[in-house]
Amino acid sequence: MSFTVAVDGPAAAGKGTISKALATHFGFALLDTGLLYRAVGAQVLLGADPQYAARALVPEDLESETLRTPAVAQAASEIAVIPTVRAALVEFQRAFAKRAEGAVLDGRDIGTVICPDAAVKLFITATAEVRAQRRFAELSAKGMDDTYDSVLEDVRSRDARDMGRADAPLRAADDAVEIDTSTMSIADAVAAAIAVVEAGIASRG
Ligand code: DC
Repeated sequence: MSFTVAVDGPAAAGKGTISKALATHFGFALLDTGLLYRAVGAQVLLGADPQYAARALVPEDLESETLRTPAVAQAASEIAVIPTVRAALVEFQRAFAKRAEGAVLDGRDIGTVICPDAAVKLFITATAEVRAQRRFAELSAKGMDDTYDSVLEDVRSRDARDMGRADAPLRAADDAVEIDTSTMSIADAVAAAIAVVEAGIASRG
């Protein structure tokens, strides 16, 4: 029987770090679903039609380093409002969620739309300022010359678009456990998430 962990939340809240740690700790397969939207966004920046790019997506498209840039993140958030793009990406995500070894999927609508029956649902949040500070530090370390203010502006505009769209908006599922990482260390946030998954495994028997 498959065991799915849904990890949702806004950009730079710590979802990626927590999801990776959960996958390693429990031996689950990991899918960063943001990469699907980023890969489509990257194709669109090159002139492709969004719906066509979503339908033509192959797993190798998720491996490019260029998917991590702020421009691609914005493009991803823009194409993510298109219902036909979202629909084209559903099957891939649901099939991944059924992996025999268990699966962690991180995104925006995993607990609400993609895997409403996930065994464990986490919603990871932090204030916009804390998230912008983390993203700014990451980008600076990579030598990118974005300012803190421009990163905060990006975080806010992505939040508004991700939460405000009509189709599968970002929100916590009613049965999700929320972890606010604003004042937590990475180790504490990971430990809190592991405890929730352990409780979920125990309750499955
Ligand atoms: O998690 P991320 O920053 O890589 O996601 C990039 C964009 O993709 C995000 O702003 C919204 C969209 N996205 C989505 O709509 N649904 C998901 N499950 C994952 C990402």
